Amino acid sequence: RIAPLLAPSMLAADFANLQAEAERLAGSAADWLHCDIMDGRFVPNISFGLPVLQALRRHAQQPLDVHLMIEEPQHYLEAFRDAGAANITVHYEACTHLHRVIEQIKKLGCRAGVALNPHTPAWVLQDVAADVDLVCVMSVNPGFGGQAFIPNTLKKVAELKELLVDAGSDALIEIDGGVNQDNALPLIEAGADVLVAGSFVFSSPDPVATLAELRAQLSA
Ligand code: DX5
Ligand code: ZN
Repeated sequence: RIAPLLAPSMLAADFANLQAEAERLAGSAADWLHCDIMDGRFVPNISFGLPVLQALRRHAQQPLDVHLMIEEPQHYLEAFRDAGAANITVHYEACTHLHRVIEQIKKLGCRAGVALNPHTPAWVLQDVAADVDLVCVMSVNPGFGGQAFIPNTLKKVAELKELLVDAGSDALIEIDGGVNQDNALPLIEAGADVLVAGSFVFSSPDPVATLAELRAQLSA
């Protein structure tokens, strides 16, 4: 099994200098670059969309981990793949035909992810557990960076881990929201594989050093 992966969230990066941000993360401990797409409908905020993602892709060394916080994501899957997404994560709460969406994402050659809001229990994924490549457990209510980690997440990760093992699924468990040096290790111990971190990384004086420290903390 791959070591814990680190995915800095570009939502907290300097949007006016995305090239410089991508270049300083090249060769860092970042495994993926997490990109938060918000439509002002599914979540009460608007972030950035396809052209910005495409521009970032030109300068990014790491795969783009695209988190779609949008209504009706089924209409935009191909466009996000074409814009450079390696992973496409849709919200469980935004998909009436989740199984179909998962299949569509995989058919496009991307890793298929499903995100769960804090109020959504892990067991709703029971019947797609064997189909998904990644489950993103939201540890804050999606829409904004810099929010406090919701402690119930640890319990949910453990439940999700058990569900995936029982289903024979090797889907990665990703944690998104309020991740920092205090909850990183407990999350990995509970079964998490991928940690997204926005403000913890980019609000630090040296994001590259912060990622390296997090990596060292987790591999110790
Ligand atoms: C929240 C986003 C997160 C966010 C994480 O809606 O999905 O990816 O950027 O930011 P932090 O780490 O600051 O909570
Ligand atoms: Zn996100």
